[in-house]
Amino acid sequence: MWFGKRLGERVQIVQKLIINGPCGVKGETYIQGAKNSVLPILAATILVKGESIIKNCPDILDVHTSLEILNYLGCKTNFTNFTITVNSENISKHDIPEFLMRKMRSSIIFLGALISRTGHAKLTLPGGCELGPRPIDMHISSLRQLGVFIEESHGEINCKIKRKLVGTNITLTFPSVGTTENIMLAAASCAGQTIINNAAREPEIVDLAAFMNKLGAKIYGAGGNQIIIDGSQKFTQTEHTIIPDRIVATTLMATAAATGSSIILKKIDPSLLYSSISIFEEAGCYIQIIDKNILKITSPEKLQSVKKIRTMPYPGFPTDNQAPVMAMLATAYGTSIFVETIFESRFKHICELSRLGAKIKTEGNVAIVEGTSKLSGANVKATDLRGAAALLVAGLAAEGQTTISDLEHFLRGYEWNKIQPILSSNVKYL
Ligand code: EPZ
Repeated sequence: MWFGKRLGERVQIVQKLIINGPCGVKGETYIQGAKNSVLPILAATILVKGESIIKNCPDILDVHTSLEILNYLGCKTNFTNFTITVNSENISKHDIPEFLMRKMRSSIIFLGALISRTGHAKLTLPGGCELGPRPIDMHISSLRQLGVFIEESHGEINCKIKRKLVGTNITLTFPSVGTTENIMLAAASCAGQTIINNAAREPEIVDLAAFMNKLGAKIYGAGGNQIIIDGSQKFTQTEHTIIPDRIVATTLMATAAATGSSIILKKIDPSLLYSSISIFEEAGCYIQIIDKNILKITSPEKLQSVKKIRTMPYPGFPTDNQAPVMAMLATAYGTSIFVETIFESRFKHICELSRLGAKIKTEGNVAIVEGTSKLSGANVKATDLRGAAALLVAGLAAEGQTTISDLEHFLRGYEWNKIQPILSSNVKYL
């Protein structure tokens, strides 16, 4: 079974899920490599005139889009058995066509790497998405501080280096993940030292820094709010293994919590899950960490509400977990309150959850989830990646048939073959 284009070979796209609920999850599965780590690391492979080997890559649509971009730029890529090889010896372009930028907003992460490698970058503005306008003003202003000449017109950004980039001191007004990554990628080839103050601290930043340092970059302090990059001219080929996906792990925990199930998740890194684990324990789940990288979740028949969940930059509760955790609390005893502080409109999944009987009211960036006795199956449409995950969680708990369409959103970030093992035969796909 498939989900998407494999470098030109078109395979069946899973479009719809049909769930005859309520149906629990059971057994065990492995957690995929982290989407938000592999995407910037694939961009970073163009820093080196040679081959990079990246292991534990998730087989998801956004990875295939990144490979399309790398191939377009002139790289040779191969994706076999969760290992990606990128040979970026001969990069012949420095632009990313609009159709690829629109396929994946996070293509903006190629900006810093292209500037580092070629001295040029021409991208279309990534544009807004289901989460809100997604501006890139911080990316632009930070790269300008490094000396990149940037023109914005006709929906395009045209960047070029007129003279050698020089390291500088950059203070972010918000710890933006993508901006932190683009500065790291651009500053890696700068003369001198760049300091990022108020840097994003996400584990995926740490993973990117680890990969770049293996290439020959000199990056210190990743994971803290100040990152120092000493420019380096020489990059050599290397290999790297992607960290586990903490958001996918939380999503699968939510499928168990929503259905009173117990499952085992392997190849996790519990140190990345603490802010989520505390929420599941408050909701009444029992979480065991076995042998360092195995997690077992045992869920009660019915969850308790969680008084308040505020999404925050790492190490706070991740915004990407907001939708699936909201779905699992839709049938909890009592009322749970969510405050979304990262994105402007990350509540699009609430309309669809309401079709399943969830009782959720919103007031600005606050969502009030009143636990209802049960959800009932309905036809729903995925609105975005994590919204789709929320519909899976709620559909498993709902009584009757739930059909989830526009599943491509889900497959951008979730590797179907690692999710299917815990799903029952009551979950079918078309
Ligand atoms: C990354 O997006 C992740 N994507 C997102 O995951 C994640 O939700 C987000 O970080 C926050 O953790 C990838 O890593 C590929 P930001 P990014 O820059 O880099 C505003 C998922 O579901 N902002 O930290 O785009 C922005 O609008 C995805 O896996 C500006 O205003 O996030 C947002 O409100 C969704 N100007 C906030 O900052 C800028 O120049 C956080 O954005 C940049 C960002």
